[in-house]
Amino acid sequence: MDRPGWVADEVDITVPNAARIYDFALGGFHNFEVDRQFFEAAEQAWPNLRLVAHANRAYLRRVVQWLTDAGIRQFLDVGSGIPTLGNVHEVAQRTAPDARVVYVDVDPVAVSHGQSILADNPNACAIRADLRRPEEILGHPDVASVIDLTQPVAVLLIAVLHFVPDDDRPAEIIASYRDAIASGSYLAISHGVTDPAPSDEQERVRDLYRRTPTPISTRTPEEIAAMLDGFDLVEPGIVPVTEWHPEPGSDEEPQRDIVAAVGRRP
Ligand SMILES: C[S@@+](CC[C@H](N)C(=O)[O-])C[C@H]1O[C@@H](n2cnc3c(N)ncnc32)[C@H](O)[C@@H]1O
Repeated sequence: MDRPGWVADEVDITVPNAARIYDFALGGFHNFEVDRQFFEAAEQAWPNLRLVAHANRAYLRRVVQWLTDAGIRQFLDVGSGIPTLGNVHEVAQRTAPDARVVYVDVDPVAVSHGQSILADNPNACAIRADLRRPEEILGHPDVASVIDLTQPVAVLLIAVLHFVPDDDRPAEIIASYRDAIASGSYLAISHGVTDPAPSDEQERVRDLYRRTPTPISTRTPEEIAAMLDGFDLVEPGIVPVTEWHPEPGSDEEPQRDIVAAVGRRP
């Protein structure tokens, strides 16, 4: 298989990968046959999957605008994905040119592409790190050069916590971010919801995901709520992504397979 120039030698392009599958779902070009095949199998199980991906990305844009309007000028976007339409710095800096953004992802393709589009942006950077090691991210010199943790910051964990299995104690990981950020900071998440009666096809996709570097761990709304311990939940609470501060007059079809929530650190 030919390797395009944008993919580093260390990247295994024979195994599907969450960043590239999501890129394909959103209509991007940084993906391979193995990712497209994976997405198409998943789409058999969840026929609305492409709409779910777009609805999640639209929520990301709305929540960044909402946070910017609330006065937030620093963003730590963890599990940021391969840059695509409506990246955090583009949304935030449209309203607040001084807004500062650090993108973090474990995937080398996402990070190298982020670094290349941010080369001329002094207020934003991209680093490679694993969200399960918050101390490495919070103590990273590039994070310290862009974000002042003594001032309010928005930590974004959008469509990524369902790639953290229970064994890795996601609530404790979130608590580490919570304890490191200033009062008045925010945490914004979206998270895949457990289907109480999954179809055989859905179980098969879950098995397929187990063979990727990022197996999927969907959760119930109650389990997701427990992860926001210590934050004050912003209205309207934990809701389908399409229902989190929708655009006025929006007729977007409700997508209940992924929920959104924003918490404020008191
Ligand atoms: C579905 S994409 C979401 C991208 C973006 N946050 C959005 O919602 O549009 C999930 C991203 O999380 C990244 N990811 C998965 N596990 C991660 C981890 N442990 N640490 C950092 N990033 C991770 C993947 O590489 C992928 O780019």
